[in-house]
Amino acid sequence: MSPSPAAADSAFLKAARGEPVPHTPVWFMRQAGRSLPEYLKVREGVGMLESCMDPDLVVEITMQPVRRYGVDAAIFFSDIVLPLKAVGVDLDIVPGVGPVVASPVRTLQDVAAIPDLTPDHVGFITEAVRGLVGELGATPLIGFAGAPFTVASYLVEGGPSKEHAKTKAMMFGAPEVWDALMRKIAGIASAYLQVQVEAGASAVQLFDSWAGALTPADYAEHVMPHSARVLADAGALGVPRIHFGVGTTNLLGLMGDAGADVVGIDWRTPLERGIELVGDHAVQGNLDPTLVFAPTEVMTARAAQVIEAGRAAKGHIFNLGHGVIPSTDPDQLARLTEFVQGYPLS
Ligand code: CP3
Repeated sequence: MSPSPAAADSAFLKAARGEPVPHTPVWFMRQAGRSLPEYLKVREGVGMLESCMDPDLVVEITMQPVRRYGVDAAIFFSDIVLPLKAVGVDLDIVPGVGPVVASPVRTLQDVAAIPDLTPDHVGFITEAVRGLVGELGATPLIGFAGAPFTVASYLVEGGPSKEHAKTKAMMFGAPEVWDALMRKIAGIASAYLQVQVEAGASAVQLFDSWAGALTPADYAEHVMPHSARVLADAGALGVPRIHFGVGTTNLLGLMGDAGADVVGIDWRTPLERGIELVGDHAVQGNLDPTLVFAPTEVMTARAAQVIEAGRAAKGHIFNLGHGVIPSTDPDQLARLTEFVQGYPLS
């Protein structure tokens, strides 16, 4: 199967390709998840990784925000560490903590012990994506993977980290281990995205959430070539590629140059400035996710500023500047979706 033909004319894909849109498309990172009572209900007694490997649950959870908000795209319900779990890395996603890896990766042998990913490892992903594309109809599905640096951080630190000190120590001090690890993760990410696109995903997003910890020079030398490989492989499949990170003002130009069609911009960078920095690419973002806790008219006034600023870009997909905060009121996101989709074009 190839990218869903029904979704080809959607506002989301038009914006990603830099074509004129019927309205500004909108979706939210982490739109599925703990902010939705219907999510909490179906997840009762089911572990996070377990739910990611159950195609019926993945379809249901991915559809929940699409039904509730009528957003312009769905994002596949999974996690950036899921492909590692699928190839056999001993890890868990601990509630309130995040991914925890039993034996952190430190040596060349540790890297070599991680199998490459084949479609057989993730048959449940193919099944879930196929099911979703059927249910979604004209609404595009975004597949995703974690970028090599961000995934490496979990593997090397053994869990979430603020400083990424062990990860960067490997990058600076053990270049041959670092290179092998980045190649390994890039290969897994590419294969994982290919499975999703071949099953019908219409676009992909590469999450390099923690790349903002790097200087531009270090990013360009030690990280960008590996992300560029993943983006090039995804590009060869014929789908638009979104490249997102947090705290990346200094990296936005490079993140576009790495081979993205759309660069995700977090809320700390004014969208006008982000658009200048990414040059000839579409952008995605970037309302501060805490604005949904403000009165509706304050939130929508700021959303209007984001939409207006987005007009200078080659294309603009409205989103929050990072994921939906779990305590978010879903009714506010419903109002925000309606506001963005109803906002006059010029
Ligand atoms: O709706 C969506 O956006 C799709 C689902 C999705 C999840 N994780 C589900 C999830 C996506 C796209 C991710 C990506 C992800 N996972 C990233 C990159 C995006 C970002 O936010 O920057 C990162 C860094 C991770 C690693 C990770 N997994 C973290 C930091 C956490 C949160 C830990 C916590 O409990 O606060 C997870 C767990 C996770 N992934 C949850 C969800 C819905 C929460 C677990 C639960 O509901 O039980």
